[in-house]
Amino acid sequence: MIKQTELFKEKKQDHHKADTYTGIYAMHKYWSKKPYNVVRDFIEKYSNQNDVVIDPFCGSGISVIESIILGRKAIGIDINPSAIFITEQMIRKINTNKVANEFANIKAKIKQKIDSLYKVKRNGTIICATHFVWEGEKLSEIWYSNGSKKKIVFEPTEEDEINAREITLNDIPYFYPKNSFFHNSRINTKKVQKVFDLFTPRNLYALSLLYNEIEKIQNEEVKDFFKFVFTSSMGQSSRMVFIVKRRGKNNGHTLEKKEVGSWVIGYWTPKDFFEINVWKNYESRFKKIIKAKNEQNYSNYVLKETKNIQSILSKNYNLSLINKPAQNVLGEIPDNSIDYIITDPPHGDRIPYLELGILWNSWLQKDVNFNDEIIISNAKERKKDIQNYNMLINKVYCQIYRILKPNKYFSLMFNSLDDKTWINLISYLTKIGFELLSVETLGYSANSVVQDNRKKGLKTDFILTFKKTYCNSLDNIKILTLNKDKDYLLKEINKIIDEKEHKEIYSLINVIFKNFLQKKEFFKLSEVIKIINEKGI
Ligand SMILES: C[S@@+](CC[C@H](N)C(=O)[O-])C[C@H]1O[C@@H](n2cnc3c(N)ncnc32)[C@H](O)[C@@H]1O
Repeated sequence: MIKQTELFKEKKQDHHKADTYTGIYAMHKYWSKKPYNVVRDFIEKYSNQNDVVIDPFCGSGISVIESIILGRKAIGIDINPSAIFITEQMIRKINTNKVANEFANIKAKIKQKIDSLYKVKRNGTIICATHFVWEGEKLSEIWYSNGSKKKIVFEPTEEDEINAREITLNDIPYFYPKNSFFHNSRINTKKVQKVFDLFTPRNLYALSLLYNEIEKIQNEEVKDFFKFVFTSSMGQSSRMVFIVKRRGKNNGHTLEKKEVGSWVIGYWTPKDFFEINVWKNYESRFKKIIKAKNEQNYSNYVLKETKNIQSILSKNYNLSLINKPAQNVLGEIPDNSIDYIITDPPHGDRIPYLELGILWNSWLQKDVNFNDEIIISNAKERKKDIQNYNMLINKVYCQIYRILKPNKYFSLMFNSLDDKTWINLISYLTKIGFELLSVETLGYSANSVVQDNRKKGLKTDFILTFKKTYCNSLDNIKILTLNKDKDYLLKEINKIIDEKEHKEIYSLINVIFKNFLQKKEFFKLSEVIKIINEKGI
């Protein structure tokens, strides 16, 4: 039962600003990556040195890394093989001299071969181009860099265009992924589409040469590191790199400037796109990552990894990363054994992680367990609907309650525009005995990869912190709807809107959350957003 005395009793900062991702946090993209500075503040606040902290949906592992940096023991679980791979690569220190030597080795073997794919002849000289601009079916520009920052732009000749199209899939001698996508309009995929369709044959050829060279590395740790650089650079080597067209003036003439976009989310392959030299992408990614890795080597944590969670609890290990469904793994953990749980679960239908992960997982040749993913997907054949989502996520919430030590905390980052998902979350967690302590909001960092750019969507996540109590309440939260409780809802919401200090939608919703929950009432978020939008806020 929610006790009014405990609920929101502290007056504190309740909107958290995200720092931008730099260093190790910028090494690899992941969807809905959480800001490390905010995650760090929460771990620091709700746990102590040597405590065991779990994130059952760890994604790219921000909470895992922060726990280790703060001297906690960390367990990270994720169903997505790429998520665990990225987390391992982000957190593990590596001998950068060894890696630099291996890079020189790879470079000596294949840079020239790859560069030869992008050769352009001008005035009898052969140069290696960096970017090819495709507008529709036509090659419209070729970019070249002579080492200075300024790019040189060529108008393509007929020969350039023929050369650019010369390679076909049949020419590719090494592995490249042939996996199919699910049909899902939300992420622009069709069943007939294959992973290799995301690349021009020439770039696919270059990627397969590079991947083949990486596969030859004997040392598994070093090999994985180079695969990590590979998946990190791959998006920019695809057809998904759109052209940002800007208009500018020069000597009174209007010029169109083309800038390189960045693969952001989903599998949208624009009609006009950049085909970028694969080696150029790989080398620049390598340089960024190695710089971050050098810095990381100065931090003083030491990893003691185990795949056995029991060992984390009873022995001197501090890290366990598990690529399995959370609903299964948490079941293996003893009652009342975990000190703090912080997580950012899949938010209903926002981001179908495993479908989006097909690109990386298929190159890494990882097996993927689509069945147990907790998600609502537009891909009909997956039968991942709200019922399946609620059933599986409730299993996880139930385990979270069981494994958490009494009077310890569970922080949940959440954002959805779906009413049923929210209502399930609030009703279920309070019903099993969690006491809601605080509702805070979290702004995204500027370069976070978020799917939800739907009009009038929420621009923040919520962070709900619960405490494990033993006050199981059969007394459910009352759900208010515009249909039944219009006058009451409007009166309460108007009261909050009229208070001058809440003019941002997130801050209004935050207060609305608190006010209603204090009275053990909740609402349909979509209806409340509608009321706020009608007020023109
Ligand atoms: C919102 S993301 C987490 C992102 C993470 N906070 C970060 O900073 O990168 C949710 C994660 O839940 C994972 N997931 C979905 N179903 C799962 C399941 N049944 N068990 C474990 N992880 C699951 C997805 O693969 C995804 O990585």
